[in-house]
Amino acid sequence: MATQRLHFDLDALKQFQEAEYSRNLVLKTAQMEIILTCWKPGHETPLHDHGISEGVALVIEGELFCQEVFPDGFTQQSQITTGEVIFTPKGVSHLLRNNSSQNAVTLNIYTPPLDANAKFLDLPYHNMIEIDPSFGQVLLDSSILQTLFHRA
Ligand SMILES: [Fe+2]
Repeated sequence: MATQRLHFDLDALKQFQEAEYSRNLVLKTAQMEIILTCWKPGHETPLHDHGISEGVALVIEGELFCQEVFPDGFTQQSQITTGEVIFTPKGVSHLLRNNSSQNAVTLNIYTPPLDANAKFLDLPYHNMIEIDPSFGQVLLDSSILQTLFHRA
């Protein structure tokens, strides 16, 4: 299968809501899901896991408070800031909160995509890019990810 080149307008995806953080779908395939998440001050998730998925969240703007709960009950708290990545293995629960006075933006990648088995608040996507379903397995060209990451 040939590599598909997709071009994303990150600024168009970066939309904030008043009531809660927004989840803006960048890309979803059978193997992965990429979401741009936008947080105003005070926005937070409930404590949740990602089911069978592993996830990373790259902070590309601002900072977030993160509380993680490991399967053995061990809990840790941290503040993550622009350029840092949170890795959430399967079995770890966490909550994220923008406890700063500035907006925050994270690029979240889950593999496999989040599913109904996760104890995840079932928030809708707020902003979607239409992907031709005939792509099947979409392979992101590394230059696209570098472009996204270098926006930090
Ligand atoms: Fe999460």
